[in-house]
Amino acid sequence: MDNIEVMISTEELYARIAELGKQISEDYKGKTVKMICVLKGGIYMLTELSKSISEDVKVQLDFMAVSSYGSEQVSSGIVKIIKDLDEPIEGQDVLIVEDIIDSGNTLSYLENILWDRKPNSIAVCTLLDKPSRRVVDVDVKYCGFQVPDVFVLGFGLDVDQNYRNLPYIGRMKE
Ligand code: IMP
Ligand code: MG
Repeated sequence: MDNIEVMISTEELYARIAELGKQISEDYKGKTVKMICVLKGGIYMLTELSKSISEDVKVQLDFMAVSSYGSEQVSSGIVKIIKDLDEPIEGQDVLIVEDIIDSGNTLSYLENILWDRKPNSIAVCTLLDKPSRRVVDVDVKYCGFQVPDVFVLGFGLDVDQNYRNLPYIGRMKE
């Protein structure tokens, strides 16, 4: 698209997600992993990642929707649960799948809620990380790419609910 500059191509995304899938397959070999997708942005990452996990791992999916922003492009620090998980996670190995970690507010809030439900473990996998913007310290075990402090879109990431379906990560041209 004319007004969008590609930052990470489709090929690069798929290659890196496959690597993460391989790593997760080794780490969870013989176990069951409950992948929790943070809607809506996480769905593209969740589907690609889950398909690249080996059959030696049992994969279960659940979904949660939280909102941290409204339509602002800056984190408000206020996180709201819009849709909760369908099933309990007690005793399970949970893998939170995110599109991007920016301030860390969303993830840190989510992890607190989920720990209260007594899972066996919680790990985090994010497609993108913007470490320069971190406000709250969060432990990210699996990260696709680090990105600079620019507003990115595509592969699940939106600008006012648009552009999530682009098969690459891009940014608006100035
Ligand atoms: P955090 O709570 O500040 O870490 O923000 C996390 C959420 O903000 C992500 O799950 C995204 O929905 C959104 N977000 C943060 N940075 C961007 C961006 O560059 N583009 C699109 N959405 C973003
Ligand atoms: Mg968003």
